[in-house]
Amino acid sequence: MLGTAQGVRIGITGLGVHVPDKVLTNAELAEIVETSDEWIRERTGIRERRIAADDEALTDIALPAARAALEDAGVDAADIDFLVCATVTPDMMFPTSSALLADTLGMPNAAAYDLLAGCTGFVYAIAQAYGMLASGLSRRALVIGGDVLSKILDWEDRSTLVLFGDGAGAVVMEPVDRGGFLGFELGADGGGGEYLWYPGSGSRHFENPESFVKMNGREVFKFATRVMVSSASEILAECGKTVDDVDVYVPHQANKRIIDYAVAKLGIPPEKTIVNVDRFGNTSSGSIPLALADARADGRLHDGALVLLTGMGAGLTWGSALVEWTNGRPS
Ligand code: ACO
Repeated sequence: MLGTAQGVRIGITGLGVHVPDKVLTNAELAEIVETSDEWIRERTGIRERRIAADDEALTDIALPAARAALEDAGVDAADIDFLVCATVTPDMMFPTSSALLADTLGMPNAAAYDLLAGCTGFVYAIAQAYGMLASGLSRRALVIGGDVLSKILDWEDRSTLVLFGDGAGAVVMEPVDRGGFLGFELGADGGGGEYLWYPGSGSRHFENPESFVKMNGREVFKFATRVMVSSASEILAECGKTVDDVDVYVPHQANKRIIDYAVAKLGIPPEKTIVNVDRFGNTSSGSIPLALADARADGRLHDGALVLLTGMGAGLTWGSALVEWTNGRPS
């Protein structure tokens, strides 16, 4: 799916993030599985990640992020009429985490549902919110992306365990008087789904009931480097922009080597690229909002900044969004 924004401008007017308190370093992981700080840093760029406590579930880490986004936007929870939460690790299949969050936050007028698109979930979710707002069905949306992948990893499998961390982010989206989203490119290839999968997590019966994330790292790496470049190139061309126009590049934080490859191939200067995979690992749907928060903390999200977001992940899925940043809400 590829398209540019038409008519009413829709932007991000609030941003909030949250990560669990517990830091897990590479050295600590090396006490659990046969690995080393050196291997993990060289192959992935990750130094540490946050891990949820035993009694912390997705909504526990998404709630503070959602509250922070609402406060940042200066919006009352009751004025949100659409809540979508991108996650592959909801508290449970139902009630949905979105419905639970809408209730806790106090959103009696909100439609609320969860969205499953692997690590691309946040990009898919902002495209959904864009569609709802641009069509006039929604007036004000809250989009949450977050995961607690530590809960579904095999803690004996070093090939996946070292890559992921827990975290969440949220944005308020609404009509704006300048800037806003320029377009989206989204895709899926179920044919490659077997390279990153979670058998036993749904209604398909498997002989081996062991239920953890399974990954073919080399195939996912090849897929990731391909789509990070093609998706970004397609959305830029569709919106009549070039990489020179991009002020801030926010790639999914899966692996520093994947980001370096995309940056070099696209020709985006590294200094325009947000990287925090070293501190958080791959937080799946939390990754892009967490990187956006770092971009803002660095003072990079100035009014009118052209921001390119690209995600990729299980499905296999990928997606890009191009947005002209808007600071402040319309008066
Ligand atoms: N510590 C030490 N050695 C390890 C570890 C580890 N944690 N993991 C694997 N190895 C070993 C392997 O067993 C292998 O050993 P061998 O040569 O004796 O067989 C060796 O290291 C090399 O393994 P490769 O898989 O070839 O290593 P590679 O350079 O491909 O790096 C990695 C592996 C980091 C997983 C890489 O393939 C990658 O990043 N892939 C993309 C993964 C990704 O981004 N997934 C998330 C997608 S988003 C989502 O939706 C969740």
